[in-house]
Order: sequence, then C-alpha cells, then structure tokens
Amino acid sequence: MPGKAKIAVLLSGRGSNMAALLYAAKADDCPYEIVLVASNDPGAGGLKLAAAEGIATFAQPHKGLARADHDALMDEAVRGAGADYIALAGYMRILSEPFVQSWQGRMLNIHPSLLPQYKGLHTHERALAAGDSHGGCSVHLVTTELDDGPVLAQTPVAVLPGDDADTLAARVLIAEHQLYPRTLAAYVGRFSDPEWIVAKVGELALTLPETSARESHGSPGWRVGGESSGKFFAYVSVRHHGEDAVALLAKTSGPDEMAALIDAEPELYYRPAYYGASGWIALRLDRPQVDWAHVRGWLEKSWRAVAPKRLTKLMDAAEEF
Ligand code: GRF
Repeated sequence: MPGKAKIAVLLSGRGSNMAALLYAAKADDCPYEIVLVASNDPGAGGLKLAAAEGIATFAQPHKGLARADHDALMDEAVRGAGADYIALAGYMRILSEPFVQSWQGRMLNIHPSLLPQYKGLHTHERALAAGDSHGGCSVHLVTTELDDGPVLAQTPVAVLPGDDADTLAARVLIAEHQLYPRTLAAYVGRFSDPEWIVAKVGELALTLPETSARESHGSPGWRVGGESSGKFFAYVSVRHHGEDAVALLAKTSGPDEMAALIDAEPELYYRPAYYGASGWIALRLDRPQVDWAHVRGWLEKSWRAVAPKRLTKLMDAAEEF
C-alpha cells in the first residue's frame, strides 16, 4: 500500500461525519488517514470524539479575529499536521479566498442537499416546502462560491409522508455517513490508479521528439528513435518483480547519482530490481502528491541520456529560445 493521503477535518459541531470518515479510515485498505481534527469551537463535540480516538486536535476560536487571520491560523495547524487534503464536515465558517485558493482541488465538503439545489442553510425545510420527492446529500470540491464547487458524488434520499425537517435530516445523515468516506477515498485514491498513472506518463513522454510507446517484458515503456534502432528512455513499473510501488524508471548517470538520490529522498526514490544494475532509478508515482513537472524533468533527462546526438542538439537549440 502506498503512503496514505493525510486528511485534516474541520468541523464546528457534533462531528458525526468526521466520525464516519474516521471509522472508515480504520480499514487497512482505506487510502486516507486522518491526521488532525480542527475546529473554530473549542467545545465542539467532534473534538472530544477525535481526541478519544487518539487523533490530534486543534481549536482556535474565531471571535475577535479577522476572517483571514483566523483562516491563517487554521491553515498553519493543518499544514503543520502534514495534511494533503482538507475535509470540511459541518464547518460553519465562510472561508476566505486565499485559504480556499491555496487548497483548491484538495478541499472537500459535504452538504445536505442535492446540489445545485438548496445551497446554504435550512436545506431540508426548503426541500419539504417545495414538495420535492427527494432530499439528499452531496460531496463537492470547495471553491470560493458557497456550496458551489464541482460535485463529486450525491445520494438522493426519498421523502416520506409526514416527514418534517428533523426526520428527513436524520435519514439524510445516514446517507451522508456512507457517501463521504467512499467519495473521499475515491478522490484521494484516483491518482494511485496504475492505469491513470501510465496514461499520464505516456502523455508526457510522447511530447519529447521522436518517441513512441512500446511494451517491454510486460511493462509499459517509451522509446526514442526509429522503429528498429529506438532505445528505451522510460518505463513504468506497476508493482513489478514483487515491488510494492508504481514507479517511473528513468536513466541516471550511474551508481553515484542513484545512491545520492535515494539517500536524499528515500520515500521518493528506490533502486529497482534488475534495472537498477544498469543505472535506472525508480521514482514513485503512487503517492498522494506527485510533482508532475518534476516527472517531466526526469523524462527529458532520461530521454537525453539515450537519444541520438542529432536529436539532443535539436533540443538544445530549441531550449535556447
Ligand atoms: C451535516 O448535515 C453536513 O451535511 C453539514 O453539517 C452537518 C454536520 O453534521 N455540512 P455533523 O457535525 O457531521 O454531525
């Protein structure tokens, strides 16, 4: 199992959604773990629950603080805990723009309606007043507009005769508890899907001159040069030879460079079986946050190491512009 994505949960109340996320995270194969539960309310029930489960907690009352200053303190705590993502779970604060922007694509929220219907508060009352056949809940990415970001998943919940806002809310909450952990897991796990990774590497590899894709011993690979004289400059190892990783194999200048890289960043690099002996290094791609510009850099470096001179010269000339 590659490193789990680290989640900070922000809440203001009882924290039943946080609890659902947390209990789901106890499964070995859950792709995320909760590293912090933080609140603007030191008395929030969710904080007590998290603390009892051994999760780090943080409380920072917002009273007397400008919104951006409060957000900055929350942000500091979240980053300090090493979080890759934020899951809002009943966090009753409007977030400032810089905070939202700096977590763009990495902050999710759960909302008790079928968005785009009924943004904001009193969603169940509004669904009932409109005579809707269903209420429901949505998990969405957070953008600067309230309850407006791209919806990742929804569950409709049937309205029963005689329902009032409380009875409907209670049933929708059951759906929330199922939807949030599943959606968060799918979202943070999406980049560790080997198919997605191979496609992404292929896309980058094929932007280099005179390249083509070709399998090698069951691994996807990319070559530079002609059909008969082409040379491999990259492979993706999908847990090959019993390794527990999906990794890019790229050519280094030799054992010294390889050893130095592994020494400096042992979580990122390793020496792959067989290929390692000929100077190929493995760069893990099944991590929560892959720096694709860095991967692109490695592809180019590796391409340069094996490409014919006439092509590397062309590349040099192009890069001078
Ligand atoms: C939930 O209904 C959630 O959809 C909304 O706030 C409520 C939080 O409840 N955003 P809890 O604190 O998770 O129990």
